[in-house]
Amino acid sequence: MAGQDRRDRPLTIRPGGVVHSPAVSAVPVEHLDELQAYAEAVAGCTRCRLAQGRTQVVFGSGNPHADLMFVGEAPGFHEDKQGVPFVGQAGKLLEKLLAGIGLSRQDVYIANVLMCRPPGNRDPQPDEIEACERHLFRKLELIEPVVVATLGNFATKLLSGRPLGITRVHGQEQQTTIGSRSVLLYPLYHPAAALYTPAMLTVLESDFARLPELLGRTPEPAAAPEPELALVLPQPPAEQLGLF
Ligand code: URA
Repeated sequence: MAGQDRRDRPLTIRPGGVVHSPAVSAVPVEHLDELQAYAEAVAGCTRCRLAQGRTQVVFGSGNPHADLMFVGEAPGFHEDKQGVPFVGQAGKLLEKLLAGIGLSRQDVYIANVLMCRPPGNRDPQPDEIEACERHLFRKLELIEPVVVATLGNFATKLLSGRPLGITRVHGQEQQTTIGSRSVLLYPLYHPAAALYTPAMLTVLESDFARLPELLGRTPEPAAAPEPELALVLPQPPAEQLGLF
């Protein structure tokens, strides 16, 4: 499979922690087309109530071949207006953190749990997350990242499938299977939270600094799917053969 060619070639980490991803040409062009087609197909999504108040769907942005993908919470005021995730203050911090490891937003892909802005930037509701998760999973399937950095509680809980909060799990990478692929999930504090809490920013910076090392690891193969249990039907009692 051509998509695996990219994974088979090692990432190189140069002094200074700069990650040089392999050239993008080995990635099947259909995936790029499919991502674009998918973005167009969901631009008018009405799967949840947030469709009513949004300016536009914020699908995601960045390198569609990225080895590193970030998943935040939901678009805010500026993202809703511009149609691009993380363009406000939190986005500026994210860009600064990326620059610290020698990357820019063009090197990574950035998306959110929700594609539409919740009114007043309130928390995503469970039914909104449920309505939108298929879009996120499809993006993950098409982009095929090696490392998925979840920003904050909502993305972390959704993609880990566990209820543990970000304070407990930040900085602890976890190999997990998303769809049919193995990815390294890496929970981080949300940059918006770190903006106003210096202690959290320090932790976010040191967790962020481990990203080049995680990207340099050899990706693990996806766990084999659970074998289907054979259906053992009760057999009718063997017919007693007559002796005569
Ligand atoms: N916070 C998020 O989680 N996502 C954005 O796009 C912006 C702020």
